[in-house]
Amino acid sequence: MQKPRTVRRLPRLALLPLLFATAAAHAATDPLAPTAHWSAYAAGRAAMPPMGWSSWNAFGTDIDEAKILGAAQRIVDSGLAAKGYRYINIDDGWALRRRQPDGRLVARPDRFPSTAAGGFRPFTDKLHAMGLKAGIYSDLGRNTCSQAYGGDDPNLPKGSVLEREVGLYGHIDQDIALFFRDWGFDFIKVDGCGLRAYGADSPKVKSGDYRALKPVLDLESVTRSDIPAVQAEFTQINAALKRNNPDGDFLLSLCVWGAADVRAWGKDFGNISRTSDDIRPNWPRLLSNYDSAARRELYAHPGSWNDPDMLFIGAGDFDANHLVEAKSHFALWAMLNAPLMTGADLRTTPQALMDIFGNADIIALNQDPAGNQAVLAYDADDVQILVKTLASGEKAVAIFNRGLAPVDADLTAQHLKFRKDATVTLTDLWSKENSAFTNETKVRVAPRETKIFRAQGTRELAQGLYLSEQPGSVNPAVDGVTKPQADPTIFRSSFGWTGTKGQGERPMYAGWGGARADSTPYGQTLRIAGTTYASGIGILANSRLEVRNHDYRRLNTLVGVDDSAQDRTHAVTFMVYGDGKLLAKSRALRWGQPAQALTLDVAGVKVIELVAKSAGTANEQLPVSWGNAALQ
Ligand code: GLA
Repeated sequence: MQKPRTVRRLPRLALLPLLFATAAAHAATDPLAPTAHWSAYAAGRAAMPPMGWSSWNAFGTDIDEAKILGAAQRIVDSGLAAKGYRYINIDDGWALRRRQPDGRLVARPDRFPSTAAGGFRPFTDKLHAMGLKAGIYSDLGRNTCSQAYGGDDPNLPKGSVLEREVGLYGHIDQDIALFFRDWGFDFIKVDGCGLRAYGADSPKVKSGDYRALKPVLDLESVTRSDIPAVQAEFTQINAALKRNNPDGDFLLSLCVWGAADVRAWGKDFGNISRTSDDIRPNWPRLLSNYDSAARRELYAHPGSWNDPDMLFIGAGDFDANHLVEAKSHFALWAMLNAPLMTGADLRTTPQALMDIFGNADIIALNQDPAGNQAVLAYDADDVQILVKTLASGEKAVAIFNRGLAPVDADLTAQHLKFRKDATVTLTDLWSKENSAFTNETKVRVAPRETKIFRAQGTRELAQGLYLSEQPGSVNPAVDGVTKPQADPTIFRSSFGWTGTKGQGERPMYAGWGGARADSTPYGQTLRIAGTTYASGIGILANSRLEVRNHDYRRLNTLVGVDDSAQDRTHAVTFMVYGDGKLLAKSRALRWGQPAQALTLDVAGVKVIELVAKSAGTANEQLPVSWGNAALQ
């Protein structure tokens, strides 16, 4: 291996012209120009993943006040509220109609008697008095998902075509003001069926019961989705949320099920964003939903989390007769920094399951303030090892047995980025047992079990962290993906509601080729000119990463075109900016050329930007690696 050369720091004077080429001037035209700020979503209240309860998994549209307040009461009485479960969310099924001609929404008075005098304010007052927060549900389109897919559900809105249009479309300002200002809600889930299921040819529209709205969301196909149209509506919703929440105390939940490449941009538009279709209470569906978020570690940060859907603990494969599966579900969601939204009828949930929701040690991992989603340290089809770096510098590690045979997994200090010559201690977060090892140990994991530990050891970088250890502080503002492709690594399950009819579920969640921690965008080991890197960021060329700097002084990395690149022609130049100023620039590097070391002073810098620029336009063929990228 050729020794990488250290880049020369640019002399101060040489930087002057660059200082004036500020972010603002370039931003409109050049997405790779530094902006000197963190652009992922930071509005609302989601510094940590939200926790709470939602009505959907237990009740569908068959909801009423007693069921919801019953859940709220159990959350408080059981001590879950004190542990952070706060949001009590009404999902689809609450609306009776949109009153004409003023367009004001009316809740179902038979199911929500306290709304009879004018709305949900008495109801949200009750939840607030219990120390809880209240969530409501709406849709991007004119109609909701149960209206689209609920058949002859008696709980659907009633009245004329216009009265049954209870979604946000055409009423964004009016409805957001009603929900947040008048009714006092704190959370809104915005579903997308209204922009998906009401094409002019759909039976719903042909029947005359619903007005047509051109579909812009297509779950099966990213190329048939109109991404800017979907984003434009979320922009309007955000403006309305801001106007109607002067104190900023709101939470926006995007629910377009991984469609329209939202796994790449949800982080810029809302606090939580669904990465897949609905979870069902069966193991294969858990795998799909988990997979849809598991490799998106760089797309989740404080304020903007991946949402693989609500917990289904309490039903089917996750009921009290399946504690192994139920505990896996909880541990995995915690490691992914997923919202912890229970979906069970808590009034009757057995204590064994309540104890799972209440595992304070696992909740603490999910709520860790550093906001680092777990990174896959080992990734096979049957066993995966996920490692999450905590604010304290300790690690959480989960060993997930996806399959049906027991496994004796090797857990190594290297998986944890701990030194192999120092003791590693493990605390099992279910049994609370402690153990210790040096270098490596074996862990027996039963079928479908997830072993989850808190781990202490000596970090490889005693004074710092690899960027891949802190995905919560790394935002792929521009990830270089120009042609969104479906991700083939997501488990495809057969849906309960269609059985094995048709051709089954094809890869459909775009995001393949997105930025990764400790991996190339396409799942290969990071490798530049024959040298592999166990740590680093893999991303396509023509990309810009934003990094929040938590008082570190130096950034070191070895950069180059990754050996997995098919483009052997175009060179890539790597640039590092500190608060908008150029700090270092590599030579133009092509495939096969040895990595170049960049070592720079970032003392006092708040936002570091890592830009990889190429004249090549087929970025998908030009993955680059920021090998061993670390802050110290
Ligand atoms: C969609 C969402 C679900 C739920 C239902 C309500 O399917 O993905 O989470 O909100 O709509 O109809």
